[in-house]
Amino acid sequence: MNLLQLKNIEVVFERNTNNETPVFANFNLNIKRGQFISLVGSNGSGKTTLLNLIAGKIVPSRGSVLFAGKDITGLKEHERSRFMGRVFQDPALGTSPSMTILENMALAGAKGHSFGLQRGIRKNKLDFYQTRLEQLGLGLEDKFHAPVGSLSSGQRQALALLICTLTPIELLILDEHTAALDPKTSETIMELTDEIIKKQGVTALMVTHNLRYAVKYGNRLLMLDKGKIIIDAQGGKKNRLRVQDLVQVFGKLTPGLSYPAG
Ligand SMILES: Nc1ncnc2c1ncn2[C@@H]1O[C@H](COP(=O)(O)OP(=O)(O)O)[C@@H](O)[C@H]1O
Ligand SMILES: [Mg+2]
Repeated sequence: MNLLQLKNIEVVFERNTNNETPVFANFNLNIKRGQFISLVGSNGSGKTTLLNLIAGKIVPSRGSVLFAGKDITGLKEHERSRFMGRVFQDPALGTSPSMTILENMALAGAKGHSFGLQRGIRKNKLDFYQTRLEQLGLGLEDKFHAPVGSLSSGQRQALALLICTLTPIELLILDEHTAALDPKTSETIMELTDEIIKKQGVTALMVTHNLRYAVKYGNRLLMLDKGKIIIDAQGGKKNRLRVQDLVQVFGKLTPGLSYPAG
């Protein structure tokens, strides 16, 4: 069953100006429940725009977005956050630096309503947060009352992931969420991501510039070029894909430029 459907989507930036940029014209994409999609594509191919369309940050000039069969084209970003979560490239974006880990988690548990903090945090909630932190295996449970701003980028990104999936969401959007991390931390966060997605059975869409990750993780791979899907590999086809295959396709798209294989 389709969890998300993009139908006949059109997006044009700065229409009727000298900078008019058509990104999508008659774009269609169906995402089934349980799919973990890695999305690759050159700069400017439309990846972030696609995520913004899904998250409700931008509204298409034509076409519709359906979630579990329901038209959500007009639904605001904060309304969509009830059933979808997003982790950004910048580790500073997912959490609030001056608040403690506990406060960040409590706020997320209440989906941004401040009463989550005012009412005080019950013991069973505390235990729940503590357990979830322990499961990360990063020692964050010992920093319960430390301001999030004092954590490393990797720890912050792990926390952002955890917070994003604290309430039951149906779609997880990952926007190059390991790109700002050093290679080793990046691996850790990627493993953690895979674990959370599998454990929670959440559907996921991950933009990555790391072709090795794109090939290794997930059960479907999409390549976007100039607003069009030029590779859609699932099942056995996805399993047989190699980094080299993707590098070759990229090579044909932008002759003379080498794509970082990661
Ligand atoms: N807010 C915007 N205003 C004008 N042009 C934009 C805006 N956002 C993106 N674009 C343009 O749309 C195209 C697709 O951008 P984007 O979705 O960010 O690509 P990607 O994430 O794949 O690098 C690019 O040409 C970009 O310059
Ligand atoms: Mg982008």
